[in-house]
Amino acid sequence: MESSHDSVVRIALLGCGNVGAALVELLSDPARREELRQRTNLDLQLVGIGVRDLNKQRSSASWFPSDLVTDDLDGLLGRDDIDLVVELLGGIEPAAGFIRSSLEHGRPVVSANKALLAEQGVALSALAADNGVDLNFEAAVAGAVPVIRTLRISLAGESVNRVLGIVNGTTNYILSTMATEGSDYAHVLGDAIALGLAEADPTADVEGFDAAAKAAILAGLAFGSVVPLDQVFREGITKIRSVDMAFARQFGYCIKLLAIAERVGDDEMSVRVHPAMVPLSHPLAQVDGAYNAVFIEGMAAGSLMLYGQGAGGMPTASAVLGDIIDAARNAATKSPAPALSNDANYSVIALDSLTSEFYISLDVVDQSGVLAQVTKVFGDHNVSIRSMEQVGIGEEARLIFLTHEATERDLAATIHDLEALSVVDAVGGVIRVIGQSEDL
Ligand SMILES: NC(=O)c1ccc[n+]([C@@H]2O[C@H](COP(=O)([O-])OP(=O)(O)OC[C@H]3O[C@@H](n4cnc5c(N)ncnc54)[C@H](OP(=O)(O)O)[C@@H]3O)[C@@H](O)[C@H]2O)c1
Repeated sequence: MESSHDSVVRIALLGCGNVGAALVELLSDPARREELRQRTNLDLQLVGIGVRDLNKQRSSASWFPSDLVTDDLDGLLGRDDIDLVVELLGGIEPAAGFIRSSLEHGRPVVSANKALLAEQGVALSALAADNGVDLNFEAAVAGAVPVIRTLRISLAGESVNRVLGIVNGTTNYILSTMATEGSDYAHVLGDAIALGLAEADPTADVEGFDAAAKAAILAGLAFGSVVPLDQVFREGITKIRSVDMAFARQFGYCIKLLAIAERVGDDEMSVRVHPAMVPLSHPLAQVDGAYNAVFIEGMAAGSLMLYGQGAGGMPTASAVLGDIIDAARNAATKSPAPALSNDANYSVIALDSLTSEFYISLDVVDQSGVLAQVTKVFGDHNVSIRSMEQVGIGEEARLIFLTHEATERDLAATIHDLEALSVVDAVGGVIRVIGQSEDL
């Protein structure tokens, strides 16, 4: 039952797609509403739902508030009875304009828009702080997994060394299915599209664009330093072969697409997205299917991992709802969160200077003297070999190497010279290996 102590929060919702519709259910289904009210002492009232297409079929549930749906988003935000705005449109504009004007009117905003937050998060957060309200965006990275709040609040005093994230469910599904079924990338991608687990145009996922936006957001939170999206190194999963999966396992690794934010020395950081060989003993190696996880390595806290559903209407709406409650409570006590910090001034290290261990697979002709020629090239560029396997395939052979730490520059020079050798038919997979955390 409604209590006279409940604070009323009138919400304008922009967007009623996958996430917006799930949020409408969480806010409108009578059973859920009652539990929510009891738990929070907040009466969260939807007062308008902005969409593009009024003719689109929405929910047929009896509780769905069809009368609130409008395609006049300016008109909705122009009303003076709005306490809080939820932006679930996606894209840069008009979402950014709506968020700016809402904050300028002193309204807290909740958004799940990773593309926008990666591009304008710090400026929008400063605008929110200037106007004494919150801009919350938990759902922008890893859906229901509470990584933003963890970095912003729980680890506010932590000196974070590295964040490793499996933050794209589609690519994690593809890679883990390739590993378990031994199928090729194209085959698994086709199945994923048919099952609705990948978009018909999967570019944003498989080429790492989606994960790069999330890596930029994570790095900004972990290090207090803005990372322009064009400085996030990005390599997708399209070149990963099932044979590399099998060899990775033989060496004690699996292959994951990781979003990585790493502190390098005192004043540099590396922010990147690429497939990586992850030791099978690492907690991230257990994260399969469409699940997400973020592994954080801190100076005092040691290592910790957050795991859960990174996408989907309901999981994402759950994170949005948590943000709404947090922002509404802070608005009631006039105690919004501080703006995101951008004072650390870390510069992004040039990829060339970054060091990693590497996995390299070479198809070579099966004749004597080949190994000596190949290993000489590694030696010429100071890339030291940690282990090697040789597999015969008919007239040819495949050589699999794991290197010790080498710079990207030296590795690229090695690959260049290997490709020029007449005994090398093809350089197959070249995959970076992530080191094990010291406390694991
Ligand atoms: N889906 C997920 O699993 C997930 C996970 C994490 C974060 N997110 C983020 O959450 C946000 C929403 O994602 P979604 O999957 O719910 O998107 P979606 O299904 O495409 O829904 C977008 C909604 O916004 C409306 N819309 C878009 N542009 C508009 C415009 N210019 N004017 C008026 N209405 C407009 C659409 O209206 P119509 O319905 O009329 O077309 C639709 O209701 C995005 O920022 C996304 O990155 C999504």
